Amino acid sequence: MPPLVFPPDFLWGAATAAHQVEGDNVHSDWWAWERRPDTPCPEPSGIACDHYRRFADDIALLAGTGLNTYRFSVEWARIEPAEGTFDEAAIDHYRRVVETVRAQGLEPMVTLHHFTLPAWLADRGGWRAPEAPARFERYVRRVVAAIGGAVEWFCTVNEPGVVAFGGYLGALGFPPGTRDVAAWKGAIRGLVEGHRRARAAVRELHPTARVGATHSMQEWEADQGGRPVMEYLRRMNEDVFLEACTDDDFIGVQTYTRVRVGLPTLVGPLARLALAVPPLESALVPLTVRRETRRASEQAPAGASEPAPRDRGSGGVAGALGRDGERLTQMGYEFRPQAVAATVRRAAALHPGRPIVVTEHGVATGDDAERVEFIQQGLAALHAAMADGVPLRGYIHWSLLDNFEWARGYEMTFGLVAVDRATQARTVRPSAHLLGRIARSGRLEP
Ligand code: BGC
Repeated sequence: MPPLVFPPDFLWGAATAAHQVEGDNVHSDWWAWERRPDTPCPEPSGIACDHYRRFADDIALLAGTGLNTYRFSVEWARIEPAEGTFDEAAIDHYRRVVETVRAQGLEPMVTLHHFTLPAWLADRGGWRAPEAPARFERYVRRVVAAIGGAVEWFCTVNEPGVVAFGGYLGALGFPPGTRDVAAWKGAIRGLVEGHRRARAAVRELHPTARVGATHSMQEWEADQGGRPVMEYLRRMNEDVFLEACTDDDFIGVQTYTRVRVGLPTLVGPLARLALAVPPLESALVPLTVRRETRRASEQAPAGASEPAPRDRGSGGVAGALGRDGERLTQMGYEFRPQAVAATVRRAAALHPGRPIVVTEHGVATGDDAERVEFIQQGLAALHAAMADGVPLRGYIHWSLLDNFEWARGYEMTFGLVAVDRATQARTVRPSAHLLGRIARSGRLEP
């Protein structure tokens, strides 16, 4: 078998998000959320990976592997800790981060919103607040005015579908934790409008920059009975946002697994929820219910049997198998690296000709050999999609570091680089060297 060859200008990178790695993000909604006893968070983010202070070393590690791109986010809650008050020291910090990325010969890709909001905006309803899109635009203007000249790739909103579904419908234990269809739809509207305003602002201030959103996309599968539910979920979690992005410069695709929706798996949750939520809307709640199932099973005595969960937001044990014998990741997702090729193909079909970047793809595992396999299989499947004409411009792995995995805490290890929680020592894993070698050579050896 000959090696698989990628284009010379391909973006090869690793990603982080501010709240997950920086530490002490005290003015954000998540900081407060993690400390509430009524949320599913097992632990607070605390100092995280101390990346706010160690960023230069971490960026040097990334560059040392051979990768050429660093995707990271700037933190709104640091930059605007109180409404209308902009912290020049924080803005300066991100200016230095961008300079460091450039000085290491890397391409910076900057995410403007990655799940967290300033607490002052969350207190007013977050993305449901009528003023949220305009406030987001004002913050984006400050950021782009400060660092825009040195950044060619901007991601406006990271996974708006997950923000809305995970927090406003309460499906993933994210803030604000409302379990309310009206809140969910209100947040969707706010996020779409926020994206549009941010995109316009970036373009006005920095016309040559490339700007897009990053989308959580699943490889969906359904049996005949599950199809209407699957289509509804896909529409509300993916398509409403993809359709709002027809004018973006690129589509960011982020895929972790395949989700299978079968009628038998829906009957129980639907029956339980039918009384609480209007029937049509209740079709999307199974994921929420599975999360509760997981929490109940965690408290169950050892050996108690519980059907293995399969969807994002559900739990799982490393090395465990799912209902149909499929391998599961630490997150409880099906180990399915090639799912990312199914989603880039779908994104390409929805937006013909528009450049696509895989802005996240990764696996939570305690065994780095699995990460190696995940990368190799994912890239092989992506290469086949490119051979079929999909205009893929880059592959950015999640994540550079083991980090704070939101409502799942630090137990999930996604990093190309291990982080010792007690000492903050970094250890570059073999998977990082592998991805770096592929990046340097532009070839995936069989
Ligand atoms: C998010 C990351 C998260 C990752 C793994 C993506 O949904 O953008 O912040 O850590 O998935 O769950």
